[in-house]
Amino acid sequence: MARVGKMRILFATGNKHKVSEASEILQHLGYEVEQLLIEGEVPEIIEPQAEGIEEVAISKIKQARELLIGSGREDSIIMAEDSGIFIDSLGGFPGPYSSYVESTIGLPGVLRLMRPESMRGAEFRATAAVCTGKKIVTATGVCSGTISREISGEMGFGYDPIFIPNDGDGRTCAEMSSSEKSSISHRGRALKAVSELMNLPSK
Ligand code: IMP
Repeated sequence: MARVGKMRILFATGNKHKVSEASEILQHLGYEVEQLLIEGEVPEIIEPQAEGIEEVAISKIKQARELLIGSGREDSIIMAEDSGIFIDSLGGFPGPYSSYVESTIGLPGVLRLMRPESMRGAEFRATAAVCTGKKIVTATGVCSGTISREISGEMGFGYDPIFIPNDGDGRTCAEMSSSEKSSISHRGRALKAVSELMNLPSK
């Protein structure tokens, strides 16, 4: 039977930037993304530390599923995502600690850590987990690039002003429009892949 309208996905995240990127990416694939709120509030979802991003994404989606029990929305499609930046010369740091490092030493601190390093390779990674009924599917997207020497650009969030994707034209992600970024980003790739795995028509 033909699908009428867009399928709604409840995205369990407190990060508004992730919500708007996911909305833009998934709306082209036939989905409408809404931030998961419980009684109008962003629910607390605990991120297990010292785990890989896939394990963290699965833990987040299981917590989100628990939160919906008894809400009348148990049948909703829910999504969670974990992501981070992995810097080669720092042995993959900050990786799962990206959010903490951003809020403590910030981008200037990361550039200071990198200063002696001429090897500036890094990658963004994102794992998206989607739960439809009892089934959880996950997909990971990677965006390879380099860490710039200076902070540059106003758009995006997090490490975007210091990350130059290899598939771009030399600008940082923060110098790109959101659609340019999403066409090559870890999140764009993870969400496209997970939407295919959801086994629902994507157009
Ligand atoms: P978490 O997935 O909520 O643990 O947070 C991931 C962290 O990785 C974010 O807070 C950012 O610091 C960083 N990060 C993930 N994706 C991006 C991105 O697309 N651009 C810039 N920074 C990102």
